[in-house]
Amino acid sequence: MAVEPTQTILTCNAEFVDLALREAHSAVPGSQQSREIAAGVLLLNAPFEAIAAAWRTKPPIFVRHICPAQVQLDLPEENAEAWLSLLQKAHLEAIALHLAPRVPFSIQTRLLVEHPLLKPFDINNALAALVKNAPLEVRQPQQIVSVVIGRLEGALRAWLGLSMAADNLSDWAGGARRFANEDSRISRSEFKLLEALEVFRIALPVRGYALDLGAAPGGWTHVLRQQGMYVIAVDPAALDSRLLRDTGVRHKRMTAEAYLRKNVDVFDVIVNDMRMDGRDSARLLVAYAQWLRRGSPAIMTLKLPNSGRLSLIEQAYAILEDAYHVMAARQLFHNRSEITLHLKRR
Ligand SMILES: C[S@@+](CC[C@H](N)C(=O)[O-])C[C@H]1O[C@@H](n2cnc3c(N)ncnc32)[C@H](O)[C@@H]1O
Repeated sequence: MAVEPTQTILTCNAEFVDLALREAHSAVPGSQQSREIAAGVLLLNAPFEAIAAAWRTKPPIFVRHICPAQVQLDLPEENAEAWLSLLQKAHLEAIALHLAPRVPFSIQTRLLVEHPLLKPFDINNALAALVKNAPLEVRQPQQIVSVVIGRLEGALRAWLGLSMAADNLSDWAGGARRFANEDSRISRSEFKLLEALEVFRIALPVRGYALDLGAAPGGWTHVLRQQGMYVIAVDPAALDSRLLRDTGVRHKRMTAEAYLRKNVDVFDVIVNDMRMDGRDSARLLVAYAQWLRRGSPAIMTLKLPNSGRLSLIEQAYAILEDAYHVMAARQLFHNRSEITLHLKRR
């Protein structure tokens, strides 16, 4: 077992590693070295505390999750019993002692290699059983023991570290926020809005009015309805038939540009998932601001091109600033080539 000066394990969308690393480097200048443990999972030669402190007030866009790597272990190939006993020993000797007493904790294991017998759950249980002075709280832990198991330069390794949940950028292991896949779901896009509402801590007014731009087939409209809102859903494409039977939904089967010329409603929230150039989408959202109550939220996805991504984000911000405060921007677990913005009407 090697106790290293703290390194950091950083997770991001595998297509956006360059931008995530750039964010890490500007948080901690000089943290240039990184090594890949798996697609979108990097071991960064930078102290966790410094990175976490830099992002406490303004989180990055592309880095999804960070955790400390305080202990590094070599693991034998596939020997489940040996894995568990090595991990337990490292946990007892270097981590468990430092857990704050009586503060809810959780163990979060990520297995970035296949194991025929062990699942993350088994490792979580084996390590949690050794903690006697703090309560296990899987749903809302305040301190997290992170365990990451993967290959680095061919060698099978484990990294363990302890941090406050609030410093990890996401409460979920590696930032992977998964939702139950219920039969009533209309599209996988629903997860994007559910995740955005949770991450940005947006509480929607029950029986308020929502405008959903680029609504088809209706996943976001469905989420808004589940939150008790009435929805105007704007999209030239068809909505799922389940929504057409819902009297709380009105489908305006036209483009957002066309509806803007007709609109007479005032809304408590606008959401915008239109598939179009991010700057055009931002311009439309600014034009719609006159129909959004002052201080009310808007959520939009900003589709990113293959190149010039940062400049597109800058241009979109400059457009949006006319009518909105940009409260936060994150590439969420459920975003692909896009980021999600939380805006507030000026
Ligand atoms: C990613 S899908 C939206 C998915 C939706 N949020 C859901 O949860 O089901 C993008 C949508 O943007 C719509 N769209 C593209 N350009 C538009 C425009 N100018 N006005 C309105 N909708 C537009 C497309 O028809 C498409 O249905």
